[in-house]
Amino acid sequence: MTVRRWQRDEVSKLVELGLVEDEPAGLVVDLRSEDPRTVVGEDESVPFVDLTGMHSQGKDVLMSAIGAVIDRGDFILGEAVGRFEEEFAGYCGVAHGVGVDSGASALELILRGLGIGPGDEVITVANTFVATVNAIHHSGATPVLVDMEPTTYNLDPEQVAAAVTPRTAAIIAVHLYGRVADMARLRAIADRHGLSLIEDACQAHGAVQQGRRAGSFGDAAAFSFYPSKNLGAFGDAGMVVTNSDELADRIRLLRNVGSVEKYRHEVPGFNRRLDTLQAVVLRWRLEHLEAENAARGRSAAVYGALLDDAPIVFPEVPVGNAESSSVYHLYVIETGERDALAGFLGDRRIATGIHYPIPIHLQPAYADLPYGEGAFPATEAAAKRILSLPMYPGLTVEKTAYVARAVHEFFAG
Ligand SMILES: Cc1ncc(COP(=O)(O)O)c(C=O)c1O
Repeated sequence: MTVRRWQRDEVSKLVELGLVEDEPAGLVVDLRSEDPRTVVGEDESVPFVDLTGMHSQGKDVLMSAIGAVIDRGDFILGEAVGRFEEEFAGYCGVAHGVGVDSGASALELILRGLGIGPGDEVITVANTFVATVNAIHHSGATPVLVDMEPTTYNLDPEQVAAAVTPRTAAIIAVHLYGRVADMARLRAIADRHGLSLIEDACQAHGAVQQGRRAGSFGDAAAFSFYPSKNLGAFGDAGMVVTNSDELADRIRLLRNVGSVEKYRHEVPGFNRRLDTLQAVVLRWRLEHLEAENAARGRSAAVYGALLDDAPIVFPEVPVGNAESSSVYHLYVIETGERDALAGFLGDRRIATGIHYPIPIHLQPAYADLPYGEGAFPATEAAAKRILSLPMYPGLTVEKTAYVARAVHEFFAG
């Protein structure tokens, strides 16, 4: 990408914060009166996510690993599956990993593996991707929703405590946008009432709280390796991680038609296995995860520095060190002028998203749940105001600055 010119203020701010090394020589002019499109070439755009750049590094290594699978022919539960399970569970700091075909399956199999089903209630948050609640529904249990905390956008532990009934079996904490939910408080509630605590860590590969990685707090955690996730496969894939030998064994059965020994079926299971080829891709991608999460963190810092005086609200984020960090799966801002801002950015070929525009309790699929409009005010207000800006590991400082400039231009009217 050609960076033609940056605004002097922006560059000095980034240099001061150590986010860029120096003023790019010859490129700095005061652009205040010029069209922001001159920052990137006229033919350039900023996609919401760019998956192509991430996969160019070390492609030959990947290709030879794929070749080895083709030569061995171990396409189903092959060698790479076991290795990746071990490596990813180790990365999370957990004893077992069980590879499955999606994050949705990981969540559902955790519930089924824990024996949760009809007659049970499972508490989760109204501000999540629908798969969290689908898993509860498909297990046969009843979803019980609570509101998000307006500061972190994660489920509110106080409301979780208030929602516990004698039928409650589990809490699913969702680590939304890459930030771990308040696991210490949720653990205390779960222990007080004898509930299972499950992490929906589908957006939080590598996120840290109290020096521990996402996936290591709950009785089990579900990860998605959907291609645009922080750790993404080349198709659908997921994993359950857990310290429980018993739960891991049970989920191994459930994902593989109820079987460990061929044609002997211990339980009525499913076909929810992780493909060997996806495990190969994921082993290769896992090597880059820390560097890519750091790159996301840098882009978030650039957005934060350049947008700190814009009239927008940011979700509260952890400090960003070894004790506590977000992995910025999404970079979300909040404004009352969301739709107009999204349109303005779209005109400048900056793609944005909304995560999520319709809260779970207002989805047609869950119209039967006993919650109407107004049930979860923080979630409903956020749904009308949130906007996700471009965020991916290959997002350059130049493109980030271009997006930030366009946001300022919008508010300058
Ligand atoms: C919070 C959350 N839960 C669950 C899922 C489901 O994962 P998958 O798409 O792999 O089924 C996703 C991602 O899509 C997600 O973001």
